[in-house]
Amino acid sequence: MSNFAGTQTITCCLEETQQLGRKIGTSISAGTVICLTGDLGSGKTSFVQGLAMGLGVPDDYYITSPTYVLINEYPGRYPLFHVDLYRIEDPVDFEDIGLYEILHGKGVVAVEWADKLSKDFLSEYVSIHFETLNDNSRKITITVKGHDKCSLIDEEKK
Ligand SMILES: Nc1ncnc2c1ncn2[C@@H]1O[C@H](COP(=O)(O)OP(=O)(O)OP(=O)(O)O)[C@@H](O)[C@H]1O
Ligand SMILES: [Mg+2]
Repeated sequence: MSNFAGTQTITCCLEETQQLGRKIGTSISAGTVICLTGDLGSGKTSFVQGLAMGLGVPDDYYITSPTYVLINEYPGRYPLFHVDLYRIEDPVDFEDIGLYEILHGKGVVAVEWADKLSKDFLSEYVSIHFETLNDNSRKITITVKGHDKCSLIDEEKK
């Protein structure tokens, strides 16, 4: 995907959602935060599996929701930090979960249930919303929020 900001896509199977993640993973800039929202089973983790492929995370890592550990880290072109806030009761700040440090480490961060994440100090992030249309179809809406939209996407790799 050359420019995924402001797009809406319908995927018709798991693999198509993974493929979207993979395309984004190949062109993403270090330091990008991706906030994933949408109901249970809407495809957030599937997307992150693709993102990991695009970032070159080795195949022998299986990406699942990090429900009990909050954050999983995977090695790739940039380190991928996969966060799941489903079990978090109150809204959390980036600093609460150690993400502030991570951001400065120039990894890519993907946060499931990101509605529970306070975005106050985040000047820019990519928001991806997943909506279940039926058993296999998902509507995926991508928006870029923040001041300097261009810096989120590596222009060189467009
Ligand atoms: N178009 C599609 N895209 C993604 N997943 C799909 C699609 N069609 C069917 N599925 C199925 O829906 C499920 C999506 O699960 P996934 O774990 O990715 O959702 P999730 O949003 O992470 O859920 P949770 O909120 O529980 O973490 C999988 O079982 C997958 O096979
Ligand atoms: Mg999940």
